[in-house]
Amino acid sequence: MTSTVIKNFPSAFSVLLLILGCGGPSDAPLPLPAEPLEPKVMDTHSNARPNEARITHLDLDITVDMAAERITGVANYDLEATADRIVFDTDGLSIERVSLADGTEVEFELGDSTFLGRALTVHIPKGTKRLSIAYHTGERSSALQWLSPQQTADRVHPFLFTQGQAILTRTWIPVQDSPGIRFTYNASVRVPKELMAVMSAANPTERTADGAYTFRMEHPIPAYLIALAVGDLAFEPIGERTGVYAERSVVKKAAWEFADMERMLESAEALYGPYRWGRYDVIVLPPSFPFGGMENPRLTFATPTILAGDRSLTALVAHEMAHSWSGNLVTNATWNDFWLNEGFTVYFEHRICEAIYGADHMGMLSVLGAQDLMATMERLKAEGHASDTRLHLDVTGRNPDDAMTEVAYEKGCAMLRTLEAKVGRPVFDAFLRNYFDTYAFQSMTTERFIAHLREHLLEPNNVTFDVETWTEGEGLPADAVMATSDRFKLVEAEIARWTMGTKARELATKGWTTFEWMHFLRHLPATMSTEQIKDLDEAFGFTASGNAEVLVAWLQSCIRNDHDAAYNKLDQFLNTVGRRKYLVPLYTDLIATEKGRLMAQTIYRSARSNYHAVSVRTLDELLAWKDSKPPARF
Ligand code: BES
Ligand code: ZN
Repeated sequence: MTSTVIKNFPSAFSVLLLILGCGGPSDAPLPLPAEPLEPKVMDTHSNARPNEARITHLDLDITVDMAAERITGVANYDLEATADRIVFDTDGLSIERVSLADGTEVEFELGDSTFLGRALTVHIPKGTKRLSIAYHTGERSSALQWLSPQQTADRVHPFLFTQGQAILTRTWIPVQDSPGIRFTYNASVRVPKELMAVMSAANPTERTADGAYTFRMEHPIPAYLIALAVGDLAFEPIGERTGVYAERSVVKKAAWEFADMERMLESAEALYGPYRWGRYDVIVLPPSFPFGGMENPRLTFATPTILAGDRSLTALVAHEMAHSWSGNLVTNATWNDFWLNEGFTVYFEHRICEAIYGADHMGMLSVLGAQDLMATMERLKAEGHASDTRLHLDVTGRNPDDAMTEVAYEKGCAMLRTLEAKVGRPVFDAFLRNYFDTYAFQSMTTERFIAHLREHLLEPNNVTFDVETWTEGEGLPADAVMATSDRFKLVEAEIARWTMGTKARELATKGWTTFEWMHFLRHLPATMSTEQIKDLDEAFGFTASGNAEVLVAWLQSCIRNDHDAAYNKLDQFLNTVGRRKYLVPLYTDLIATEKGRLMAQTIYRSARSNYHAVSVRTLDELLAWKDSKPPARF
């Protein structure tokens, strides 16, 4: 056992282990640099000990009780075990029974509860190949959001969705919840017969008569990519391999919005090689979904806030689709390597958008991203978290969710863009394509990527590039190649005219896209008079905008200027939308004043139960929320 483990470690790590005396035989073979390997690195966010015993396949057999808000069932695993125990991650689960293939019950212990949940250690006879765990979820199963009919678009049936990334799959399935451990899965899921179930797997397109569904994910994936949604869903095809799921009243609108999906998939393949997952579908969830999108394999989960009615926010689909290569095919080995998922994906997203919508569009998207990056880095520095401005993170001892910021996305993308500029696009594209092919269905550490980069890009092309400054250094390196946008220069000129007194309706805004409006709103003066705000709103109808990006940027300006007329809309938005990326800036702006703080507390008190646990966790901290009695004046 030890020798296979050692063989699979990156060389520096195995040498270190040998020195420390906890490794295997000293003649253990070291990896050949170009050989595709699955590094068995230490993941400090999982209790699993894959070197002793790991799962290779999961057969999930569950019943979803929408009324009791509980999942009950049995998880059956295929194992590769060399030790006499196997450790799983659990959090908020009740473990009923653990048994071997012949039905014999085996002993197990649950460890102490930490922010990683509770380790489940099962004692198994050596050589055990199959194991079953009977369990049910509980109130602290925070991957799950159970929605009442009133929280859905159609308001007739309840809804359930899961969110696994980063360490939440363990709250609904006992599993080895580390991104470095991959396994295939099948699932049998029983739901009330009026509802349909879909997963990150091969999916039905119609309801079954009895509410029983079976699923198959034939490629090995990490636990964070297992996902389930249950609701009164309809399906609408878009292209040969693409389509959309949503509630009945939403599905047509969604299909219109995502009309470019098939073309995006073709563009992605033309860039970095075949799409290896069969179909690519998107499910549009109810508005409480805490993220914009989540790249669950074969079935991206998405927020309805991207249904702007003009296809202007579909870069999000390009992003989640790009994860089918960067993230789902080549996966960050630990959450410290998160930038390998997101930085590559933003770069890839931009390339897809450039292919479909042109270089101007891509330029604006990049500049908006760079603005987000600068703001995030300043905030992190101001909050004393400058080390989180590194690409290669150190999240040990913390919930990884707390360090997953724009840095991984935008600084990661900037690094790839800088490399592209050094070697030229054709060489860089060939390098990336080869990277995805070489490491398909494997996990990747930052160290291993750097070794691959040196050997396959920097050395053969004689490129000078300070990789360590990029991956280990704080802030943005001086050689970063950042995008610019001529179209934004025109926007800035119009803002200048307006601040000098030109009326809003006389500004040259004809033909502006959502990106130009976002740039406009982000660069309005910090302080504006009521007349100025009214002038803008009367000319451009921001408060009534159905575009969430535009609306949120506008509401931020209104809050900062205490513009009462926007507060109804703000209240309504915060009470329906649970996307954390919007909630955090709005609540943050609110709590900057005493009046706003009271409003934030009042709104949060009613809205909190609409939000998914990941948003609640962040907002409870932001608002110093104690589930206490309302203040005296109420
Ligand atoms: N994988 C992420 C979402 C995520 C990150 C979930 C970290 C949990 C922990 C997804 O691909 C993503 O990045 N979504 C973005 C949209 C994207 C266009 C930048 C989002 O949700 O806003
Ligand atoms: Zn992403």
